Amino acid sequence: MIFSIGDIMVDAYFRLPSLLTPRTDTVGRVDLVPGGSAANFAVWVARQGAPAAFIGRVGNDFLAEALRADLAAEGVRAYLARDEELGTGRVGVVVSEGGERDMICDRRANTRLCMADIPEDDLRELGTWLHVSGYALFEEEPREAARRAMDIALEAGIPVSVDPASYGFIRDIGVDRFLRLCRGAQVFLPNRDEAMALTDMSDPDDMLLALADVFPVVALKLGADGSAGLDRTGLGCYGGCSTGHSRGRFGSHSAGRSVGRSYGGSIVHASPVQVEAVDTNGAGDAFDAGFVVEYSSGGGLEAALMRGNAMGARVAAMHGAR
Ligand SMILES: Nc1ncnc2c1ncn2[C@@H]1O[C@H](COP(=O)(O)OP(=O)(O)OP(=O)(O)O)[C@@H](O)[C@H]1O
Ligand SMILES: [Mg+2]
Repeated sequence: MIFSIGDIMVDAYFRLPSLLTPRTDTVGRVDLVPGGSAANFAVWVARQGAPAAFIGRVGNDFLAEALRADLAAEGVRAYLARDEELGTGRVGVVVSEGGERDMICDRRANTRLCMADIPEDDLRELGTWLHVSGYALFEEEPREAARRAMDIALEAGIPVSVDPASYGFIRDIGVDRFLRLCRGAQVFLPNRDEAMALTDMSDPDDMLLALADVFPVVALKLGADGSAGLDRTGLGCYGGCSTGHSRGRFGSHSAGRSVGRSYGGSIVHASPVQVEAVDTNGAGDAFDAGFVVEYSSGGGLEAALMRGNAMGARVAAMHGAR
């Protein structure tokens, strides 16, 4: 069973008409849909027919009941802790007429996910994979909880993947601290901005080689350009390779390249699936779900990137994250 841990939200989409009529009603469209990066991941895992479980925290309110029912309907095994004080997390997405979006994130109960919320025995006994959404690493308590879940998984031999979720967060807490939080992760799933924030590089291949110095498998999401990845587990060096290089954070540009080469495993580029993108929100979560389902079933890097691209494109071509 593929577990994910992190945020669960209700997304409220407000589609702003070109003219708001002041002091009275403006007729328009407001969509309320289930969301949250880690919950989206779990749903996309389940929709591919793989067993999925989700660990998160909601409030004691009607939104929580709606989210619980939704996960059940999607076939996701839900471990939802109930916070008696903070409401269920919600995001307001304001969509202007040109399609531009502004997000107002109100994380609420998500900020209090804690160690006691982890179903330790079930994770150990049922888990085949653990996916951590970077949003779970934002605040102190959820960070400890996510780290605890990762440690349980690692002790039990369950592979862990991390999606860093936000380059702003990496900037805020610093690269070294962020990487320490991710220690032990086998698969790392950044987008371009997050990889740039981590490496101070901009070329996808350079970024992959640099990140592969830290993570055995890296899949880099490149939006409309598809994705690229590097897997150095083929040499059986997961758990620590000796390269003869000193382990600086990322080393210089050329050091990154030579370190990557010495690990073996070559960079794989996966072309995007051509779609007309209407809303790329959530494409990254769906990509992660596609990648993890394929990779965890032994599909290999290229097949995993391709499945990730197909799932990401599917979400980019529709309104909403699911
Ligand atoms: N316009 C597009 N056309 C085709 N595929 C796309 C498009 N946008 C995204 N994808 C697919 O979805 C994947 C993830 O998208 P993206 O790189 O935007 O991730 P992200 O920034 O993490 O997304 P999110 O906003 O959900 O966090 C891409 O790697 C690609 O496979
Ligand atoms: Mg993302």
